[in-house]
Amino acid sequence: MNKSEIIDGKKLSGEIRLQLKVQAEKFEKEFGRKIGLAVVLVGENAASKIYVANKIKACEEVGLKSFAYYLPETAEKNEILELVDTLNADKNVDGILIQLPLPDKSFEKEVLARVSPDKDVDGFHAVNAGNLLLGNDNLSACTPSGVIELIKSTGCKISGKHAVVLGRSNIVGKPAAMLLLQNDATVTICHSKTEHLSDITSQADILVVAIGKKEFVKKDMVKKGAIVIDVGMNRENGKLYGDVAFDEVSQKASYITPVPGGVGPMTITMLMNNTIKAAMSGKR
Ligand code: GUN
Repeated sequence: MNKSEIIDGKKLSGEIRLQLKVQAEKFEKEFGRKIGLAVVLVGENAASKIYVANKIKACEEVGLKSFAYYLPETAEKNEILELVDTLNADKNVDGILIQLPLPDKSFEKEVLARVSPDKDVDGFHAVNAGNLLLGNDNLSACTPSGVIELIKSTGCKISGKHAVVLGRSNIVGKPAAMLLLQNDATVTICHSKTEHLSDITSQADILVVAIGKKEFVKKDMVKKGAIVIDVGMNRENGKLYGDVAFDEVSQKASYITPVPGGVGPMTITMLMNNTIKAAMSGKR
């Protein structure tokens, strides 16, 4: 019986954050202020509150200044847009993050489009998503960027490999597929309407799972020796579960990320990286 090597996202994250701290200190010395990240949370979503708290904590760890804005559940669209305008114009704010989901999902498109692409550290603006598609320099979505770093940390090459992405969201699936393509993988995107799903996933050298279904991917869906990256964050009775049935899949994969402790910490580290990148690009 084979057992996979666990990719430790927390450890990798810690190593990268140390490097980012040095860059943040250098910026502060040169420009006489800390790099700033504004985090906007609207409403009371419990998971969002945890994510936002973790993002603010990471800012402290890396030496960035965080500006937290908490708006009530009932906040009007215009109120959120006005805040975004203020943050766009604020010279001490290098990055702006609107925590999703917004209580009224119908606001999301307009609010995200209002964030200046130069400060869009989530990489959600059409300009950044478009530049990713075109292979131009951009701020890339944080979770997919973290996925790539996790794969690279194994030392296995991505070029020429068959990467299968399960999920086609704008936040994870689509940008992850684009980044894998940029790294010369042969990429297949699967989703809820995909037929013969197991046939496709079991051909993947690299399998990235982001479908939001607790332990959906079982051993028989995975190729022996595959690298499996689990983006799932399914909360049940206070416990976090991935989209991959870890215990059985780890018998077959060569490398696998755990949940928690895999992709999660890397997402926030890539957010810190993007904020530093946004700050520096304004100065170059
Ligand atoms: N909600 C779930 N994931 C994310 C993310 O990566 N960024 C933001 N802003 N909100 C999220």
